[in-house]
Amino acid sequence: MNQKLKTSIAYAKNLLVTGAIAETSRHVEIEICKYIPREGNKIIVEFGVGHGNITREILKSISPTSKLYAFEVNKSFCKHVSETISDSRLIIINDGAQNVKKHIKGDVDAVISSIPFSFFSKEKGLKIIQDAYGLLRNNTYYSQVLYTKFNFKKFQQIFDECYMKSNKKTITEYVYHCKKSNTY
Ligand SMILES: C[S@@+](CC[C@H](N)C(=O)[O-])C[C@H]1O[C@@H](n2cnc3c(N)ncnc32)[C@H](O)[C@@H]1O
Repeated sequence: MNQKLKTSIAYAKNLLVTGAIAETSRHVEIEICKYIPREGNKIIVEFGVGHGNITREILKSISPTSKLYAFEVNKSFCKHVSETISDSRLIIINDGAQNVKKHIKGDVDAVISSIPFSFFSKEKGLKIIQDAYGLLRNNTYYSQVLYTKFNFKKFQQIFDECYMKSNKKTITEYVYHCKKSNTY
């Protein structure tokens, strides 16, 4: 059985937590990394690692001295990624995005997320977005992939500038890019 099929089966078995039956597309892997800083000692946060397809793309994008803190609630997905990605810049955290402030205190340079907001209560969703906004530096981005446009307003409520990207080939995937601007 090939790896993509194994991943789909694992996601489908955990559908109520993954919110997906397949990995996000190659187009999304590239689009969602658009605002990751490529140089310097940066701190990147990922929400929803799954089997690590976006994680690999983030690691390809960042500098050798940057760090990626990757949050995933499913223990077996964390194990899978720690066994298949060997990279000292990657710190896997087996906890939910709603607990990000327990693990990271600030100065984050990008948040990349594929967690299923449609499955969260409004309060939980807004807390995750608000906490991420609080941790990000000025002039940085939170980028989120979702299968619907319906959560966009929650991001607009908190972030200073937001836009949405979709692709003709993958019309069911939307990437929201949300910027934290200068806050004096
Ligand atoms: C749609 S899958 C995306 C997986 C992969 N990053 C991709 O792009 O294909 C969503 C992932 O988020 C995880 N997840 C769900 N709720 C979460 C939460 N509150 N915090 C962190 N991860 C969560 C799920 O277990 C699942 O692995």
